Amino acid sequence: MRTVVITGGTDGIGKGLALHYLHQGARVIAVGSTPAKGEAFLAEAASENAAFVRADLTSVAATKDLLATIKATCASLDTLVLCAQRYRLFGSRATTHEGFEHSFALAYLSRHILSHGLHDLMTLAPRPVIMNVGTPGVPLGRIHWDDLQLTRRYNGTRATLQSFRANDLLGMAFGELYGGAVRYVGYNPGVVSTGMPTHLPPPLRALVKATFPLLATSVAKAITPMTTLLDDPPAEAFSAYFTKRRLSLDGSAFDREQAIRLHRLTQRLTDATEPILPS
Ligand SMILES: NC(=O)c1ccc[n+]([C@@H]2O[C@H](COP(=O)([O-])OP(=O)(O)OC[C@H]3O[C@@H](n4cnc5c(N)ncnc54)[C@H](OP(=O)(O)O)[C@@H]3O)[C@@H](O)[C@H]2O)c1
Repeated sequence: MRTVVITGGTDGIGKGLALHYLHQGARVIAVGSTPAKGEAFLAEAASENAAFVRADLTSVAATKDLLATIKATCASLDTLVLCAQRYRLFGSRATTHEGFEHSFALAYLSRHILSHGLHDLMTLAPRPVIMNVGTPGVPLGRIHWDDLQLTRRYNGTRATLQSFRANDLLGMAFGELYGGAVRYVGYNPGVVSTGMPTHLPPPLRALVKATFPLLATSVAKAITPMTTLLDDPPAEAFSAYFTKRRLSLDGSAFDREQAIRLHRLTQRLTDATEPILPS
């Protein structure tokens, strides 16, 4: 039986994918931080193949606990989808109890730890694939090499965009490091009508919600090209897509040297044990 793990699998795009794969007969583990959402997901799934694991992925320790749980309960892993996200576009800088800037921790560090930490388990599956859902193809934001935690000149948009660009480089480094035994797909779903605006401040929340009927795709439609890629991943170790359009990896967003540099820095930050890339 295909085993699928989806972070952020209790809401929005992640939940859409979770329910899709349950209907396909897969075993699905949905990860989220809110128990009530997990219970609602299990009730809607109404399947003995569905599981919810509560984890606060802003925490490196909790992400590593999740890794251990997955390794203890899955003999192999076919599909990993990384969707957990909580935008903090406004307000003051927040740090996790481990001292990382919030967006960096949740949207990037947890994805780095899960991607690398589950690689070996995934090689036991016949056609393993990781999909990192973010905004590849959007030419905004950069890595702030001298201040990754944005202790100086913080703003929420800058932090959010940095985490997106870090995920572009994560995919690139992953492909370089492992050479494709586990395919890695960076994926931008475009604007999708989810509960994401709920966490925005009131005026912007209302504005984004009002634009959804005009601009946004439904979750049901958005997941169709995603499942196509997940079921038949590209041959290359790393690929990136903006909905159905494949992106060139020639631009600076996927620069190999920067990818390796960020990988090494992140290994040090998370005290990771995966192999260090060759220079
Ligand atoms: N929607 C769009 O228009 C759009 C556009 C481009 C890219 N994307 C990307 O697509 C992905 C999914 O977005 P979405 O709109 O479907 O999001 P969403 O509806 O807001 O769902 C976010 C999911 O992440 C989980 N989550 C949030 N904080 C967490 C934490 N600390 N630990 C563990 N899980 C956590 C949430 O569960 P809890 O609340 O229980 O924690 C929920 O299951 C994101 O990576 C986003 O950047 C979305």
